[in-house]
Amino acid sequence: MLFVVFAENDREEEMSFTEKSYKPIDINKVISGKKTSSLWHLMSGFHLHYLVANLFTGLAALARTFIYLYLGGFVDRILEQGVVGTDLIVSALSFGGLITLQALSSFMSSWMATFTAENSTRRLRDYLFDHIQRLPYSYHSEAKTGDLLERATSDVDTIRRFFADQAIGIGRIVMIFIISFVAISQISLRLALISIIIIPIILVVSMFFFKALSKAYEAYQEQGAKISTDLQENLSGVRVVKAFARQDYEIEKFDKDNKEKFRLGKKFIRMHSLFWPLTDIVCSAQTIASSFIGATMVFDNIMTLGQYLSFVGLLGWLIWPIRNLGRLIIATSQTFVSLGRISTILKADEEDMTSATYQPEGNIQGQVKFDDVCFAYEKDQVVLEDVSFSCEAGEVVALLGSTGSGKTSLVNLLPRFYDVTCGQILLDGVNINEYSRQFLRSQIGIVEQEPFLFSTSIRGNITYGVHREVSEEEIVMAAKEAAIHDVILDFKNGYDTMVGERGVTLSGGQKQRLAIARTLLINPRILIMDDSTSSVDMETEVQIRAALEKLMMNRTTFIIAHRIQSIMNADQILVFDQGKIVQKGMHAELVNQPGIYQDIYEIQARIDSALQEEIERVDLL
Ligand SMILES: Nc1ncnc2c1ncn2[C@@H]1O[C@H](COP(=O)(O)OP(=O)(O)OP(=O)(O)O)[C@@H](O)[C@H]1O
Ligand SMILES: [Mg+2]
Repeated sequence: MLFVVFAENDREEEMSFTEKSYKPIDINKVISGKKTSSLWHLMSGFHLHYLVANLFTGLAALARTFIYLYLGGFVDRILEQGVVGTDLIVSALSFGGLITLQALSSFMSSWMATFTAENSTRRLRDYLFDHIQRLPYSYHSEAKTGDLLERATSDVDTIRRFFADQAIGIGRIVMIFIISFVAISQISLRLALISIIIIPIILVVSMFFFKALSKAYEAYQEQGAKISTDLQENLSGVRVVKAFARQDYEIEKFDKDNKEKFRLGKKFIRMHSLFWPLTDIVCSAQTIASSFIGATMVFDNIMTLGQYLSFVGLLGWLIWPIRNLGRLIIATSQTFVSLGRISTILKADEEDMTSATYQPEGNIQGQVKFDDVCFAYEKDQVVLEDVSFSCEAGEVVALLGSTGSGKTSLVNLLPRFYDVTCGQILLDGVNINEYSRQFLRSQIGIVEQEPFLFSTSIRGNITYGVHREVSEEEIVMAAKEAAIHDVILDFKNGYDTMVGERGVTLSGGQKQRLAIARTLLINPRILIMDDSTSSVDMETEVQIRAALEKLMMNRTTFIIAHRIQSIMNADQILVFDQGKIVQKGMHAELVNQPGIYQDIYEIQARIDSALQEEIERVDLL
């Protein structure tokens, strides 16, 4: 992942949330404290909509309650007085009015609930993405993309569903319950009390399932994340998979993980399937018992038939929230799990991009000094040890050494992708920890060892990371300097040619040259080129080198290369072995010193002369 490389963050920084038409939230309140208050806080700015949604739910419940009460009264009147024409018309109109009111209220309630859900989760998604952008390099090197994807999509969606359905359900349940209970108690308080005996039973059963289902859902989501990771890695590495004919292995691996997800899903659904019939049995028993008691009250003349009809209707309406209480508790358990999974990302410390104890006027000069620097990614695994060297502004420093000797790690310390473990790095005489990361990264341009291109046009890729308007001439100039202009013109759509995902439609060398053009456009004071010419042929390398020599003139350049030809003109060559500088000097000195440099030089010279001989032999034929 490469979000951090081109000091993109400051552009993000400028984009304040107020522009986004929603109220900013304090994310600390979301990640700390109780989950219910976190969810409530996530709804900030939409609490009113939520309350209005609840109000409409209440209105719908009220309308429905009146339908039942009216029905009871209507039946009693007919039984007492027979059918009266005007009463029939008035009743029909009243029923019609109440049904319309109920329908309109339900519509408004759903609308407001959806509005709350979509807006709250849109903001959460924005915050999450913003936060992921600001996480340090080290977080991204360890985090699994598939897992992050799962949390940013599936888990956010669980919360959205909660806001859209269940959060509004709480209000609905409470209101319907109160209204129905009051209405039934108007008919008979005893019946009302009998009808709610099951609440404690439902609560106990739900709480038991709450815990079990939370665990099952967490395992299910984790497995989902594993599958996303499988899929993401497989798709990213599809070329490797095909090249090594590992399709069968990959299919088997995916199948295994998919089966496990199926198993966990089955377990989860089984619990669900157990929960529903259980609560249904309890609720049905309650309905039958209450209806029976009600019926005996009619026979005993304590209640009229009309009242009984109202009661039966309202009873169904009273049992509904009780039954849904269980559903709500279970859905809440899933939402809590998802919220927890999202919070883990939100809790990770963001990279401090802006704080600084030193802010130079204008740009830096580019004088760099490493003072006994050591570095380790993990404790006890030394990657760099006692690295000391210095260079003046505008000098070219070349880094050479076997693979894994720490060259990339060293240059990654300059923009503070990682911080030194001991020692210090001075930039223009000031410790780099005193500069803000944002400033440092605006001064340093990197052509990565494995450049990443976005699936947009070539022009879009070249101008990526340039925080100003760029003219067509500038783009062409940068492309020419990186020796890629002619290649681009050969494409059918020139600079508008779309680059496939991660640049797959370009060759390795073309990608590197595009990355060089992109970095040149930023015009950095310090240029880092990590093996940037490794994927180009000799001829192109000569072209690039010539262009780069001009470019290196006024800026401090760190160049990592494996070919001595690419670095022999450097002002200083540092030879690395196992994280230490073992040789230091200019080409002329090093080549005459016994050591790694001389060895590499001799091997490469031998290869070059053998190649030359071969070319001459072929020419003679
Ligand atoms: N993100 C990381 N986390 C842990 N260890 C790492 C990480 N990146 C590199 N390393 C380890 O640090 C050591 C130095 O790696 P580095 O990438 O700096 O080598 P290099 O000199 O650039 O090699 P190459 O010439 O192959 O690019 C290696 O042993 C490597 O395994
Ligand atoms: Mg490297």
